[in-house]
Amino acid sequence: MMRLTFAEPKAVSEGLIIVAVASGGDLGRRGSELDKACGGAITRAIKASDFQGKSGQSLTVIAPVGLEKARIALMGVGDPTELDARKRQAFGASIYKTVNSHRAAEAVFLYEEFRGVDGTPAARVADVAYGARLRSYRFDKYLTKETDDKKPTARRLVIQVRKSAAARAAYGPLAAIADGVDFARNLVSEPSNIKYPKMMASACRTLTKLGVKVEVLGEAQMKKLGMNALLGVGQGSVRESQMVVMHWNGGARGTKPVALIGKGVTFDTGGISIKPAAGMEDMIWDMGGAGAVIGAMHALAGRKAKANVVGVVGLVENMPDGNAQRPGDIVTSMSGQTIEVINTDAEGRLVLADVMCYAQKKLKPELMIDLATLTGAIIVALGQENAGLYANDDELAERLRVAGDTVGEPVWRMPLGDGYDKLINTPRADMKNVGPRWGGSITAAQFLQRFADNIKWAHLDIAGVAWADKELPVMDRGATAFGVRLLDRFVADNYEK
Ligand code: BES
Ligand code: MN
Ligand code: ZN
Repeated sequence: MMRLTFAEPKAVSEGLIIVAVASGGDLGRRGSELDKACGGAITRAIKASDFQGKSGQSLTVIAPVGLEKARIALMGVGDPTELDARKRQAFGASIYKTVNSHRAAEAVFLYEEFRGVDGTPAARVADVAYGARLRSYRFDKYLTKETDDKKPTARRLVIQVRKSAAARAAYGPLAAIADGVDFARNLVSEPSNIKYPKMMASACRTLTKLGVKVEVLGEAQMKKLGMNALLGVGQGSVRESQMVVMHWNGGARGTKPVALIGKGVTFDTGGISIKPAAGMEDMIWDMGGAGAVIGAMHALAGRKAKANVVGVVGLVENMPDGNAQRPGDIVTSMSGQTIEVINTDAEGRLVLADVMCYAQKKLKPELMIDLATLTGAIIVALGQENAGLYANDDELAERLRVAGDTVGEPVWRMPLGDGYDKLINTPRADMKNVGPRWGGSITAAQFLQRFADNIKWAHLDIAGVAWADKELPVMDRGATAFGVRLLDRFVADNYEK
């Protein structure tokens, strides 16, 4: 992870120096000072090359006369007046990559005010730091033989900016969000021999040091509550199922909390309806919804959000053994509704059904938002670009859409309706846990809706976005922690004003 610091402008003459160049080759004030210090070598280099300051272009000037100990990396930003928060973050991410490509441990970025379309001057420079910080995450704890030429070198970035104290203050909350994102990414990346329900519960307990109140329920307590849908999923595993409730009370006393609910299947073999071998290793990240909820609680507490939020995660391992749940079993959920388990691989909805019921009954929230790597069908529908959004309330849906667009975690609304709802009826119980093949993400959402009566509820099916197969604007491939930034923003925009 990269350390970001802010400092007042001061002449630099050695090391890796980064200058953002606007389209047309405009060096700005700091760039021009540097150019003067080396007798115009920078402008000469630009003239002699095809570098025009377009976004994505770069040019390095090495050890020019006058700055013999410096490497100057010019990075194009295009038209700075067109930059919004996400583009500034992406620019920060590219700074991180530039530092690594120069194999440098440290660099100084001579920040020139990006006027931009949004934000305050301090917020604009903070975005650059935030993007660099997010991009610098790496899950490398199990690499024991990595060669030096593969390891990233970047450790520290000093951003020189006027009014550096204001920039530092604006970066504070963003760093707290990045801490939440990285906490979630660590959990999601962990293999399932290390990551199991109790391990995740311990990870949740570490949030107490941020002021989060953490309660952990084991199987005996859940049995007493009648959470048989959740328990049925975990009964084929030697790892005990857990449910964790995390309270962050940063808002006014007595205001109802926002409830965030996460699917935390620490490994999904499919159970007796076992999955094919190919690609089954992906199911280490079937706890991505819980990871996002835990990460969001980390972020909210870390930046001391002025809102009441409660996170609840259902943690189970879906395994086939002699005690495993069978297709055809009928379970009575905490809500009293009975479920015929047609397919033990449709386990996420069984876990969420009981967690949602618990949240509604015991926590009396203002509304509920659940996140889950719920269906392969949502990947067929939306690919890896958008999460599926379902909601029983239009305003809530719109607020989530806006939050997602703002932070670069887009969601696309999907339909709910009686026609779909009927598809999970069965003569043997109140409902069955799968519908027909077509519309599989929708019938999964219909199933969840039956556990969200008389409350505003939204569901994000994040199966396509929890893990990235290729690099994203501010993230390397791998665990994305999709949802952490969206939920943080949703709370900030709607409950902290
Ligand atoms: N965890 C899976 C969904 C999933 C698939 C997440 C691919 C991430 C990537 C879920 O538990 C599952 O197995 N869903 C089944 C449901 C089916 C049995 C109705 C699916 O989507 O195939
Ligand atoms: Mn499954
Ligand atoms: Zn699953």
